[in-house]
Amino acid sequence: MQFLALCLLVAPVAYTLAAPDPTTICLPEKSTMRVFGLIRKIQANVSSDFSQNKIAEVTELERRVLDLNTNYSYAIDPTGACTRQRLPVPGIITRCLPPSTVFLGTVFEGFVNKVSLNGWLIPVNQDINVTLLTYTEPGQSDSYFVLRRDDTSWGQRISFVSNPVASIADTSVFNVPAVCPDKPLEVRLNVFKYM
Ligand SMILES: *[C@@H]1O[C@H](CO)[C@@H](O)[C@H](O)[C@H]1NC(C)=O
Ligand SMILES: *[C@@H]1O[C@H](CO)[C@@H](O)[C@H](O)[C@H]1NC(C)=O
Ligand SMILES: *[C@@H]1O[C@H](CO)[C@@H](O)[C@H](O)[C@H]1NC(C)=O
Repeated sequence: MQFLALCLLVAPVAYTLAAPDPTTICLPEKSTMRVFGLIRKIQANVSSDFSQNKIAEVTELERRVLDLNTNYSYAIDPTGACTRQRLPVPGIITRCLPPSTVFLGTVFEGFVNKVSLNGWLIPVNQDINVTLLTYTEPGQSDSYFVLRRDDTSWGQRISFVSNPVASIADTSVFNVPAVCPDKPLEVRLNVFKYM
């Protein structure tokens, strides 16, 4: 009887520790961050502008513009030559975590001033799972990911973010040349290289 009473007491407390709503974990409308590929060792400056639904990934090798309106990814090489390809999974890149995201738990970092990071799993489809650690600045509504792992049936990718800011210094990163033919299929690259 006493055990049951204890359970009844504990139960409401346990329920208040409900998982956060993933759809409230969102990037700012505009952001820029440095993304380091820990396996492929590629660095990219990634700018996202959800007011125009565009993401730009700038590396030393190329500039890539993902247009979520047209579902095309445009690759511009250092000579200015452009090729485009369809986003393989339209709808995978969103400002907020999708409703299907599973909350994995919270981890705390820091010896003195603890920050909490939330772990998430996005089961994108049968070929792609994305695991993320997100950080929300206390008192702010915007979040970003600190660490991200993409497990795909064609390999694994791990990305680490540094220096995120809620602004875009140079909006020309989103410019796409007027002439941008389809990329030949055999040299297709994966658009989720950095993200
Ligand atoms: C990325 O941004 C940093 C800081 O603004 C800059 O120093 C670096 O050259 C940029 N890298 C690329 C590939 O554009
Ligand atoms: C792009 O993909 C999104 C998400 O699947 C879809 O809602 C939208 O209609 C697509 N747009 C075009 C132009 O295909
Ligand atoms: C994604 O996760 C599910 C559930 O854990 C697993 O069954 C599946 O094999 C995973 N797929 C990939 C590509 O890692």
